[in-house]
Amino acid sequence: MAQSDQDIELGLRGRVALVTGSGAGIGRGIAGWLARAGCLIAVNDIDGAKAEETAALLRASGHEAKAFVANVRDEQAVAELVAHIRRELGGLDVAVNNVGMNAGMPATPFTEWRGDDFRAVVEQNLIATALCCVAEARAMVEQGRGGVILNVTSGETTRPAIRLAPYGAAKAAINHLTQTMAVELGPHGIRVNSIAPGTTLTEQVQKTFPESHVAAILESIPLRRMTGPDELGRLALYLASDLARCVTGQFMLADAGAFLSRSRPAMPAVPRVPDR
Ligand SMILES: NC(=O)c1ccc[n+]([C@@H]2O[C@H](COP(=O)([O-])OP(=O)(O)OC[C@H]3O[C@@H](n4cnc5c(N)ncnc54)[C@H](O)[C@@H]3O)[C@@H](O)[C@H]2O)c1
Repeated sequence: MAQSDQDIELGLRGRVALVTGSGAGIGRGIAGWLARAGCLIAVNDIDGAKAEETAALLRASGHEAKAFVANVRDEQAVAELVAHIRRELGGLDVAVNNVGMNAGMPATPFTEWRGDDFRAVVEQNLIATALCCVAEARAMVEQGRGGVILNVTSGETTRPAIRLAPYGAAKAAINHLTQTMAVELGPHGIRVNSIAPGTTLTEQVQKTFPESHVAAILESIPLRRMTGPDELGRLALYLASDLARCVTGQFMLADAGAFLSRSRPAMPAVPRVPDR
């Protein structure tokens, strides 16, 4: 019987963990919890200053972390990123595909979405995640020591993503991709799960959401609060660890109960600029 929490073996000490887009927000929260469990963290971001900042924060707390700048929408850059991490840190054991969001697109009524905008959102979410998954899975299969892949999707996949149609569709496709991967990669000892955050007040979200929208969301959530990057870090740690050694192909919602609410405040629509 365990006598103290130190007796619980998470199985992550000395493992190499990549978190894409961990220069800020949720990715930074996830990187922090994996680091606390003893992982060596590969901090990826397209923005070098942000990646360096997260890596420096982790090192200042006594953890091992290194920044790797790459755009995960670029297939070649992703292949090089994974190869670079394996060379520098000795392998790849845990990969969290966290890059996503709405690719700079405003909340838009369905009839006003244009093809190029739709493609941009799908590329930032489904395609970037898929490119990462392929490169990470290839590395893990080649290494022959199993691994864990976590894909960050969204609570938007549990109900209609009003005015965010391409985002909801792309994230829902990642949930399905996760299950396909779980089946194909399971025989290699690779577990694949997805994490679905509810509205999370990252710096970026705070800048974007009007106060009235935040208030309306809070009112609709059973726990009357939003999910934080730190809480998503805890969930990622659980799924990456041996505590979840039998869990694969799952979709784990962390939204403070938002999916149960009857009303869902939609993002205010932003009028389209005529020549776009
Ligand atoms: N914040 C929310 O309310 C919320 C809710 C549900 C799901 N999510 C999902 O959680 C994930 C993280 O969101 P966040 O709110 O922390 O975002 P964020 O914008 O705060 O941080 C994302 C980071 O990713 C980096 N990045 C963006 N594109 C990149 C690329 N192509 N290659 C490498 N790095 C890139 C950015 O520079 C930034 O540092 C996303 O997949 C998002 O869709 C967020």
